[in-house]
Amino acid sequence: MSGEKQPIIRLRGIVKRFYIGQPNELEILHGIDLDVNEGEFVAIVGESGSGKSTLMNIVGALDKPTQGSYLLDGIDMTAAKDGELSALRCRKIGFVFQTFNLIGRTSALKNVELPMLYNGVGAAKRTARAKELLELVGMEKRMDHQPNELSGGQKQ
Ligand SMILES: Nc1ncnc2c1ncn2[C@@H]1O[C@H](COP(=O)(O)OP(=O)(O)O)[C@@H](O)[C@H]1O
Ligand SMILES: [Mg+2]
Repeated sequence: MSGEKQPIIRLRGIVKRFYIGQPNELEILHGIDLDVNEGEFVAIVGESGSGKSTLMNIVGALDKPTQGSYLLDGIDMTAAKDGELSALRCRKIGFVFQTFNLIGRTSALKNVELPMLYNGVGAAKRTARAKELLELVGMEKRMDHQPNELSGGQKQ
């Protein structure tokens, strides 16, 4: 084992149930084992309603599993408290949401800056980095546009 890199994401026996203890209790994830290594590009594929978003919410630290263990970069995410999860999400996870979650009536630039604001990055550095990132995805002419003035792809 020595010298071998541990996976960046390591799931073992992940179970997710909704309405726990109620007669209509639903088990959506039945014990998922998954390793994702650094630099790996992984797609999770399955029919609608099969539990992809439920799993991604757990991987993204937006929700906790009912059972099982999840290590993100060696950190036990099932033991982390809400505040710690927020900090870890901010530093270690990037999301592209299906339903954007942008702040309305706020420019693309300010929307991109927001996570850096939460992370304590200074104003000048924040703006410079947000511009750089928007340029990277070809949106240099859309920085001052608000979410309702952007295409679906531009919002993502
Ligand atoms: N918060 C919830 N409470 C109860 N059932 C849920 C909840 N979220 C999702 N489900 C159910 O879990 C199943 C999987 O949903 P989801 O993970 O969104 O599927 P997918 O993303 O693969 O289409 C669906 O049947 C859905 O109705
Ligand atoms: Mg989904």
